[in-house]
Amino acid sequence: METIHINQLGQSAPREGTLVSTNGRSDNYLLPNSAAETQRLIHQAHIYGPLTRQFFAAAGITAGMKVLDVGSGAGDVALLLADMVGPRGAVIGIDKNPAILDTARARVQAMGWTNVTLLAREVHSIGLDDDFDAVVGRWILMHLPNPVGVLHRLLSHLKPGGLVAFQETDSTYPLSAFPPAPLHQQVVQWTTPPPGRGGPDLQMGSKLYRTYLDAGLPAPQLRLDAPIGGGPDWPGYAFTAETIHILLPILQQMGTTTAEEVDIETLAERLRMEVVGQRGVQMLPIVIGAWARKPSRVPSNELIDS
Ligand SMILES: C[S@@+](CC[C@H](N)C(=O)[O-])C[C@H]1O[C@@H](n2cnc3c(N)ncnc32)[C@H](O)[C@@H]1O
Repeated sequence: METIHINQLGQSAPREGTLVSTNGRSDNYLLPNSAAETQRLIHQAHIYGPLTRQFFAAAGITAGMKVLDVGSGAGDVALLLADMVGPRGAVIGIDKNPAILDTARARVQAMGWTNVTLLAREVHSIGLDDDFDAVVGRWILMHLPNPVGVLHRLLSHLKPGGLVAFQETDSTYPLSAFPPAPLHQQVVQWTTPPPGRGGPDLQMGSKLYRTYLDAGLPAPQLRLDAPIGGGPDWPGYAFTAETIHILLPILQQMGTTTAEEVDIETLAERLRMEVVGQRGVQMLPIVIGAWARKPSRVPSNELIDS
């Protein structure tokens, strides 16, 4: 039987979030490999893309770099990077899911980028060169059981002084509305698994600092961003409803809500009315970014890599 984990607004779930039994997979990413999930990832990146771009710019991604994108998914980060490194640079993206890489490749081709290569690889066995200028990723470390070990091993693909830049979610600030709104609060409750369950790490964002240190990196610089908006045209209402739609079978199985309560056909509109009616704002879950440079001597540690 497969392990199923709830992802709060599709990005993550606490390590205490396992719903069923284990399937022996080497990570906690268990959202469906469906066309609908691929579409949701694309919408998600549309909203979070500008924040990720600003993060990479602050971290030091520049034209001409050779960048490794870990856990490329539908290709949104790779597409951003393709533009940032330009035709003199190169982006190599890896993901363990070949189906989603087909979507990513089609998008890269449609955009006309020739500087992006997407490879079906497990993060544990990337098997690539050691001359990357940067190793980056978004919403990937939270899905790995040993993010410290993975980060430590990824350093071997970097040139000395190479950049490490990861952006992850953190449930400390989940979906919210101002003024506080009951349906928004309910959505957070639906997507919060009962304690003691395992699964992706919902607090990976806040743990990036210590993860970098434990992996042998210097103290990283940090930034925190969140999409926020109001008014009838803000896309956050539809994105939130789309995420709940994808997650609904898992939420029902977890017992946090029912199809009747969610009423998916009207959910986006009800969220919109709750915010617009108050002339309020909706804030989507935050992302925390961390960046640091590979030191000249990376401590080797078999325990880290295990
Ligand atoms: C939440 S998605 C993020 C996709 C993309 N980085 C983005 O921000 O839009 C996580 C991706 O990581 C991939 N992934 C999870 N565990 C992995 C592993 N062990 N090795 C390689 N890819 C993995 C999944 O297949 C999925 O496409």
